Amino acid sequence: MATYRVTLLPGDGTGREVVEEVKRVLTVFQEYGPISFEINEIPCGGQHFLETGEEWPAGSFEHCRDNTDAIIVGAVGWPGAKLPNGDIAGGQVLLGLRSGLDLYANVRPVKLYNGVNHKVHGGFRDIWNHELVDMVIIRENTEGLYHALLRRSALAAQGGQKDKPIIIDKFPGLNGQVEWDARPISRNGSERVIRFAFDIAKRRESRKGVSQKVTCVDKSNVTRGCRLFREVFREVASENENMETNEAFIDAFSMWLVRNPEDLDVVVLPNMFGDIATDLASVLQGGMGMAASANIGDNHMLFEPVHGSSPKYAGKNKVNPIAALSSTQLMFESLGSRNNDDEAILCSEVLERAISEHLSSGAPVTYDLGGQASTTQVGSAIAQSCRGILEEISS
Ligand code: IPM
Ligand code: MN
Repeated sequence: MATYRVTLLPGDGTGREVVEEVKRVLTVFQEYGPISFEINEIPCGGQHFLETGEEWPAGSFEHCRDNTDAIIVGAVGWPGAKLPNGDIAGGQVLLGLRSGLDLYANVRPVKLYNGVNHKVHGGFRDIWNHELVDMVIIRENTEGLYHALLRRSALAAQGGQKDKPIIIDKFPGLNGQVEWDARPISRNGSERVIRFAFDIAKRRESRKGVSQKVTCVDKSNVTRGCRLFREVFREVASENENMETNEAFIDAFSMWLVRNPEDLDVVVLPNMFGDIATDLASVLQGGMGMAASANIGDNHMLFEPVHGSSPKYAGKNKVNPIAALSSTQLMFESLGSRNNDDEAILCSEVLERAISEHLSSGAPVTYDLGGQASTTQVGSAIAQSCRGILEEISS
């Protein structure tokens, strides 16, 4: 039986609460399942910065890099928690891990579970009775506008002093103080994430009535980085002639995403477009409380709910833990496929079944899904049902 080293970074606000539910579920798998963990927890984020003056303890990055098989993040970001240069405190934890561990594919499944209402039209099945919403959005995760928080105006100024605003007076309409954000997009960075998207599309089971397909989303009619991204997409597509492909610009895509989600299967797009499109897509799956993610590189992996720290609900035991639990399910799945570990895959199936049965059976859900249950109630119910399934399997 494999022992996986899992590092938990609960971070800020409701991130801390949902990571408690992740721990509850991991404990059940540790006790009743065919998997074992060595769990380490590291405090981090904006609140930690306000309390201690540091985003996380020294050596934490190295721990994540050298002594960890999988990282689970709750959320980072807290109102008023800013670094001296104005960047969000804790931002470097997440963005630093994404770039420092080269986690180039941010995988965000958008799936509407049976029993959960689509937040736009309220229903959960379309007229052909195949799953209306079941796609994976793959966001490039190390380049583009979020390339490295610190290389912004200072770098663009080419020798300008760090953190000093650049004054430009040459261009009409661009006067006074100007801040630059460079958006580097490379051939290699595009190619690896696009290949990753094709690999996912090949592995995904085809849904009844919907063919597997990879859609490239960019703004290649205007920006050069996107032009390169799309050029590389076409090259990779030509090597995969059996795979259906499609291309879209991000503006029109935003409309299609909401209007015809059933046409989408695997979507690949540059960093910031993916950041925005996945928040939008979450309304198709019942909201941010359901949106899970995996950040995958060739040597490391990190999992996090997409929802952030939601200061408004923090400490109230109200938010939906399912996004964090589905992220944990993605962790089992990724550990399983990376290590050829059928038992980790089994754990992923058990957790997925527990979540999906919880939702389809009409069991209590949190406020965002129209219920009144607390974070701990939902987390405990799902943990309990994992335990039941694991006992059933082993008997
Ligand atoms: C996300 C978040 C992060 C991002 C923030 C917290 C830096 O919004 O994971 O989508 O923009 O990538
Ligand atoms: Mn985001």
